[in-house]
Amino acid sequence: MMRLSDAAGAAGFSLVSLESVDSTNRLALDLAEQAGANRTWVVSEVQRSGRGRHGREWVSPAGNLYASLLLVSPCPVEDSPKLGFVAGVALAEVVRRLAPLADTHLKWPNDVLVGGAKLAGILLEGRMISGNRQAVAIGMGVNILTAPALPDRKAASFLDLGISTDRREVLRVLSDRMATQLTAFAAGQGFFRIRDAWSRLSLPPGTPLTVRLPRGDLSGRCAGIDERGRLLLDMDGTLREVEAGDVFLDGSRTGP
Ligand code: BTN
Repeated sequence: MMRLSDAAGAAGFSLVSLESVDSTNRLALDLAEQAGANRTWVVSEVQRSGRGRHGREWVSPAGNLYASLLLVSPCPVEDSPKLGFVAGVALAEVVRRLAPLADTHLKWPNDVLVGGAKLAGILLEGRMISGNRQAVAIGMGVNILTAPALPDRKAASFLDLGISTDRREVLRVLSDRMATQLTAFAAGQGFFRIRDAWSRLSLPPGTPLTVRLPRGDLSGRCAGIDERGRLLLDMDGTLREVEAGDVFLDGSRTGP
């Protein structure tokens, strides 16, 4: 049986656990109008139509974790994109805890990489609901038994790392870390604490990156994130702020 951590339960988080669903993010957002839906985790053994970033599909066979946390008006609407960084920090902490010897880093905005290959991803989706409230689904996919063969980048699973774990254990630790990091986020000082934690888990400053934008690629070196969560790219000494885009670690790109 799937369970949240004791601390998450005590902090008012609840769990809906399914065998199959189109997308846990879709279901989480659709639950948002129900009384008491805030802080509901939705997990499913498989997803028939899992969603990835940039409209991509997230292939979702049994054995991996597909989880969405529904939050209702957790922060001012303009701050909600920062929840992706809250989740990124929590997810990277999970991987560092369960695979302590792996080379785990966050790649902007919120992919968890091990040895340069993607082990977990986050998709944040939101919608306005009645009462001028905002529903936010923080969707997280973690490769445990299998990693998809992606056309343009490397992916890995816990099994590939030689770590035997399962979605039950990953959810327990993830629900625990999310409860803690959401408390840190709510404790405020702006984005300071999360940005600090994110920076400590991120690829080191100076890592060569390529950002793919609709108008072409930008190449530079990772220089962290700013107070709004934008990527700072050092291009020969000039800092460029990147709002959105697909980031590749040089050398990790395997396709065209
Ligand atoms: C990415 O492209 O990196 C984000 C992947 C997010 C996948 C998760 S799996 C659970 C949740 N439900 C979805 O449909 N997508 C997210």
